[in-house]
Amino acid sequence: MEKKLSSDWWRQAVVYQIYPRSFADANGDGIGDLKGIISKADYLAALGIDAVWLSPFYPSALADGGYDVADYRDVDPRIGNLAEFDEMVEILHSKGIRIFVDVVPNHSSDQHVWFQEALKSEKGSKARERYIFRDGRGENGELPPSNLSSHFGPEGWTQVADGQWYMHLFTKEQPDFNWDNPEVHEDFLKTLKFWSDRGVDGYRIDVAHALTKNLDPLPDRDSYDLNVMKDDGTDPLFDRDSVHEIYKEWRALFNQYDPPRVAVAEAWVHPHRRPAYASIEGLGQAFNFDLLTARWDAEVFQEVVDRNLEFANTTGSSTTWVMSNHDVIRHATRMVIPAGADGVTFADENKWYVENRLNHNLDLDLGLARAKAATLMILALPGSTYLYQGEELGLPDVLDIPSDQMQDPQWFRGEGKLKSRDGCRVPLPWEKQGSSFGFGPGGSHLPQPGWYGEYSVEVQDNDENSTLNLYRRAINLRKELEGPEDLSWLESPAGTLAFERPGNWICFVNFGSESQVLPEGKLLIASAPVEGGKLPGNSTAWLIR
Ligand code: NOJ
Repeated sequence: MEKKLSSDWWRQAVVYQIYPRSFADANGDGIGDLKGIISKADYLAALGIDAVWLSPFYPSALADGGYDVADYRDVDPRIGNLAEFDEMVEILHSKGIRIFVDVVPNHSSDQHVWFQEALKSEKGSKARERYIFRDGRGENGELPPSNLSSHFGPEGWTQVADGQWYMHLFTKEQPDFNWDNPEVHEDFLKTLKFWSDRGVDGYRIDVAHALTKNLDPLPDRDSYDLNVMKDDGTDPLFDRDSVHEIYKEWRALFNQYDPPRVAVAEAWVHPHRRPAYASIEGLGQAFNFDLLTARWDAEVFQEVVDRNLEFANTTGSSTTWVMSNHDVIRHATRMVIPAGADGVTFADENKWYVENRLNHNLDLDLGLARAKAATLMILALPGSTYLYQGEELGLPDVLDIPSDQMQDPQWFRGEGKLKSRDGCRVPLPWEKQGSSFGFGPGGSHLPQPGWYGEYSVEVQDNDENSTLNLYRRAINLRKELEGPEDLSWLESPAGTLAFERPGNWICFVNFGSESQVLPEGKLLIASAPVEGGKLPGNSTAWLIR
């Protein structure tokens, strides 16, 4: 029988992100599926994770990797069906693994029935009111209602057959919903109830800081830069205070379940605005993305930890830690992108990527050492940790995917200035050799490089020094060591960090390149071999004293 969960099971959970189309393909169509996930249930259980988060698996025309949802209450037939979804929930639950699904409330796909109906309906109709339609400017409305750009560029408005325009912050296949319309509210509550009733335990909310907008006057490129968001709740498009009214409605629904459903906001907002999303009257938790843009440096990491623990204190929620996800260069690669372009800002990362991806000379051993050290550090921090599929194999990003095989709209619509996110979405290598390295019997929807097999589960499974076994040991050990969400810093040499968690659990991180003497205590685990009581550079160790 399944163990009854406490209502705060999520506070220090390790959540493993599955990008379903690239995880495991059971039916051989080159696209990962639910049966593939089911076939790896034992693998997931052995990792010791508490939950999986599934990126969108809904019907979609894949203009943006599934973040263009055509039906929020169904499964893409290429990925499975609702019966298989139920089976997956049952099997994962029976192994003590909870399930998060992605909710994409800012925009739907242009294939969604509502948008199709809007296209067939006239101006001002009820169907058009569910999205953001406006007349154009110019004598015959031939100019967009404003000069708005979209994230994947270039334009933020697209014209339809009768001359009106609709707004989209992402691709033109992702029309933005009109959250001033009560019908939109009702429909999302229906979706959340639908999945909660099927046993889904939590939700990851896509662009949670968009949704409500001030469109009077319409934001215009001349006076408004999409990438520079106001930090006081008055930005016309993002992080408006009013968005939290929606999450209060959602919270009322989540709390009708036992245990209450949980949610984590994807909100790239100014750090001090993050706590509002994590409030317990709202979504309950928010991603802290600070380490995705942090340099590998003791002071930088310490500052990020302090700031986020403080935020967590102000909201009563727990904080979150993320090193990789489906939107960024995998951290085993990111951590050695050259200085000045090492991911401190995305602009730098993009510039390096565009100029060097096909001909780079990165020290991937160093990248992996730092990646393992960073992961071991975040696994020792209070709060929950979100891992991304494949990072447990130490996978580097696949930088050299031929341009004509890329799928990411950010790449081919970004006018060659934005990096492609396909490199972190390449289907996983399960086996050393063979068709798509064991991803499935029918090839892989993105090309896998020849070296992929060396990182496979098959190669790492029985190697006690592999990255995979480091992750397995660390995650399982963390469960044993876990106590209250407190942390105190210990004195340590320059270029290192040391902190203690309740129960005398110590984490020591060496950011420099020279070995450092470990603090006193019994060594539990280390991301690199410890010799003579010294921890090599670019590594982390846990001790107990
Ligand atoms: C954030 C998602 O993580 C990303 O993959 C997607 O492209 C955008 N939101 C738009 O939905």
